[in-house]
Amino acid sequence: MSKIELRPMQAEEAEAVAALARVVWQDTYRGIISQAQIDTMLAQRYSAEWMRAGLASGDVWWEVLLAGGEIVAFACYFLACRPGEMKLDKLYVHPAHQRRGYGARLLGRVEAAARDQGCRTLMLAVNKRNLQAIAAYEKYGFTVREAVVQDIGGGFVMDDYIMEKPLGET
Ligand SMILES: CC(C)(COP(=O)(O)OP(=O)(O)OC[C@H]1O[C@@H](n2cnc3c(N)ncnc32)[C@H](O)[C@@H]1OP(=O)(O)O)[C@@H](O)C(=O)NCCC(=O)NCCS
Repeated sequence: MSKIELRPMQAEEAEAVAALARVVWQDTYRGIISQAQIDTMLAQRYSAEWMRAGLASGDVWWEVLLAGGEIVAFACYFLACRPGEMKLDKLYVHPAHQRRGYGARLLGRVEAAARDQGCRTLMLAVNKRNLQAIAAYEKYGFTVREAVVQDIGGGFVMDDYIMEKPLGET
């Protein structure tokens, strides 16, 4: 078993996390959205400068999980628009490392951070056709709050469920 480490992402790790995101997105979203939409969304969400700017702002938090010294999973979260809610914006595990509990471990960090900030709910958006992730989120205790279709420009839409999980006392 390789040693597992969870910790906040460092600014200089933005490129490595962006490269990991591309691997996971190709594996996950091929067959769900077009290659053009994958490329567009990766460019929007994983530019190293944008990621570093978010880190520097102190308003966006990133956690990485390392196995054997290599980043194999990450999470990103920030305060949502609704008071008392944290948004789990990203949760991605390398395809070769999925179903080992890494997603659950990252989620545990995010939930603890959300509780520390007084949040009572963790919410997220997940593509309606991403059945694997929906199954994982249901296992983690999330339920569907609503269905949303959001125009993200360039002729693309995000066709998502909003899911939420109440954060009880631990
Ligand atoms: C979804 C994801 C984050 C879950 O993380 P993970 O480390 O693979 O999952 P865990 O080991 O924590 O599993 C938790 C539970 O979720 C469920 N689950 C996870 N992957 C599943 C799959 N492929 N099919 C069905 N259920 C699944 C299972 O109930 C699992 O528990 P079990 O293995 O004891 O049965 C990860 O698989 C992933 O990165 N998927 C691709 C990217 C993605 O879709 N991210 C979410 C975008 S919104």
